Amino acid sequence: MPDKRRIAIVGLGMAVTPHARSLVDLGERVEVAYAFSRSEARRRAFNQRFDFPLSDDLERIAGDDAVTAVMILTPPDTHLELVQRFAAAGKHILLEKPLERSTERAEAVVRAAAAAGVRLGVVFQHRFREASQALRARLEQGGLGTLAAANVICPWWRPQSYYDEPGRGTLARDGGGVLITQAIHTLDLLLSLTGPVAEVAAICGTTIATPTRAPR
Ligand SMILES: NC(=O)c1ccc[n+]([C@@H]2O[C@H](COP(=O)([O-])OP(=O)(O)OC[C@H]3O[C@@H](n4cnc5c(N)ncnc54)[C@H](OP(=O)(O)O)[C@@H]3O)[C@@H](O)[C@H]2O)c1
Repeated sequence: MPDKRRIAIVGLGMAVTPHARSLVDLGERVEVAYAFSRSEARRRAFNQRFDFPLSDDLERIAGDDAVTAVMILTPPDTHLELVQRFAAAGKHILLEKPLERSTERAEAVVRAAAAAGVRLGVVFQHRFREASQALRARLEQGGLGTLAAANVICPWWRPQSYYDEPGRGTLARDGGGVLITQAIHTLDLLLSLTGPVAEVAAICGTTIATPTRAPR
C-alpha cells in the first residue's frame, strides 16, 4: 500500500466533528498529523473524542514538508489569509464553505491557490447526498425532459444560542446571514443541477418573534 497522506486540520469548532469522523474512517489512507486550535480548552475537549496529534503552531504545520494537504475549518473572514499562507507553503486545501465573506476576497482565495499551483476544494456536502445524486443522474439521462424551472425552499432554523456565539451571522465575520451561511448549500445544489445563473433578483422580508406571554 502507498504511504498514507499526511494532512492537518485547522479549526476545531462546530464544523470539525463530521470531518474528524471521516478521517477516522479513512485511517488506512490518511494520517492526521496536526489538529490545530489556538485554544487549549478546545484542543483538550477535541482530544477527548479524537486521538489526533494536537497543535497550536500554524508555522510548524506550514513548514512541515510531509504535510501535503490542510483542511481549513475556521470562520469565513479568516479563510483568505489562511489559504494564502498554506498555498504559499505548497499545501493542497479543502476549505469549508463559504469561500470567504465577500466576492472580492473569495476571488482572491481562488487566485492564491491557482498562483501556488495547489488544489483547492470547497465543502458542499449536499451534492453528495443520495437524493441529490439520484436527481443528477435523472436529469443527465433526460428523465425529466428539458428543465423549464427549478424551485428551492430552505426552511432551516437555528436557535438563539447559535446566534449568541460572537460573530455568528454577522457581516463582519460570516459575510452575512442565512443566505451565505445555511442556504448556500441549497443554492449550490440547485446551481450544480441547473447550470449557472443568468440574472439575479431578490425580495426579502423580516419577521420579529412575538414574546411569549407568561401564563396568568
Ligand atoms: N459544511 C457545513 O455543513 C458546515 C457546518 C458548520 C460550519 N461550516 C463552516 O465551517 C467554518 C467554521 O465554522 P464553525 O461553526 O466550526 O466555527 P467555530 O465553531 O467558531 O470554530 C472555528 C474554529 O476556527 C478557529 N479560528 C478562528 N479564527 C482563527 C484564525 N484566525 N486562525 C486559526 N484558527 C482560527 C477557532 O478558534 P480557536 O483557535 O480558539 O479554537 C475554532 O477552533 C465556517 O466557514 C462555516 O461556514 C460548514
